[in-house]
Amino acid sequence: MQTAAQLWSCLFLYYSVCCCSGITEESNALNFVQRKALPRFAPLSTLSTAQSSRSKPWLMHKYIAVAHHKSGVYVMGQLWELIFFALGATTSDMGMWIQPCYPHTCYSPEAPIQIWVDMYSYDKAQEERVAAGANGMRVVGIVRDPVSMIVSAYCYHHRGKELDSILFFPAALLVVLGPKEGLKLVAEGMLPAVENMTSAFEQPSHDTFRLEYEKLTRSSDGFDQQMGEMMNFLFQDLITPAERSQVLNATKWADLHRHPPTDDHQNNQECEDEVRKYVPSLPADILSRYRSFQERLGYAAT
Ligand SMILES: *[C@@H]1O[C@H](CO)[C@@H](O)[C@H](O)[C@H]1NC(C)=O
Ligand SMILES: *[C@@H]1O[C@H](CO)[C@@H](O)[C@H](O)[C@H]1NC(C)=O
Repeated sequence: MQTAAQLWSCLFLYYSVCCCSGITEESNALNFVQRKALPRFAPLSTLSTAQSSRSKPWLMHKYIAVAHHKSGVYVMGQLWELIFFALGATTSDMGMWIQPCYPHTCYSPEAPIQIWVDMYSYDKAQEERVAAGANGMRVVGIVRDPVSMIVSAYCYHHRGKELDSILFFPAALLVVLGPKEGLKLVAEGMLPAVENMTSAFEQPSHDTFRLEYEKLTRSSDGFDQQMGEMMNFLFQDLITPAERSQVLNATKWADLHRHPPTDDHQNNQECEDEVRKYVPSLPADILSRYRSFQERLGYAAT
């Protein structure tokens, strides 16, 4: 539990960092797709009226995209918007929630298509399953090697990005900390989020698709294969073959190999290679937690 004093310091830190530096935050993005300047395309404009008047999948199921800090929040959000916009959803069909709610990050909790960041766990999944009722929910969660997540978090925040994060206290310290101390700070701070991710996705479930960050980002083939499986899971026969290919085409925009990002969201590989060397020198109790997360999720201990 945070004390009131800690909370106030966080808030103070948050406002001072946010207002002094004017940085744009990933987590404050209102629209993942627009940020990458997608060329405008008319969703389903070529499909016949008969096809487009079919009932929309989100009137049947509740659709939830799940991500945790550094598991691929940005690509997950982008994919979700690309998929549902291609099927004719509008912004009023979509909601988003990040815990805690940074400015403009939480809206439309009742919308049928949701993006949830840092707030999903095994327990939450059970609650949602009950709440979704007979038609059920369809959850896609992006999962990444927990050790890669902390390595990535250090490199990312060390570059001065998203210093309003309350996962680490104080996040601004990461800019000055070297890899040994910095990695320890992020590893401690991210424990609850990574525990949540692990608990939610270690066991398969019929209403949940585990999107593999590593396969998604390794190559365009891996990306397409993950998208094909995800489409089968999400829609089965709720969409036509024409809609399916339209959606698959739309998702390609989020493939890093086809469309390399133009912003500086990506970390530099050298930083990650270097910081990874400090993983074995994490305090033993923390390291063993991360080894256990890796094992539960089926990753090798790297
Ligand atoms: C973990 O999940 C629970 C819901 O089961 C949530 O209340 C908690 O805030 C989550 N913590 C993080 C850091 O994701
Ligand atoms: C595929 O998507 C791109 C936008 O990313 C669009 O310009 C193109 O027209 C689409 N092709 C088809 C066949 O729908």
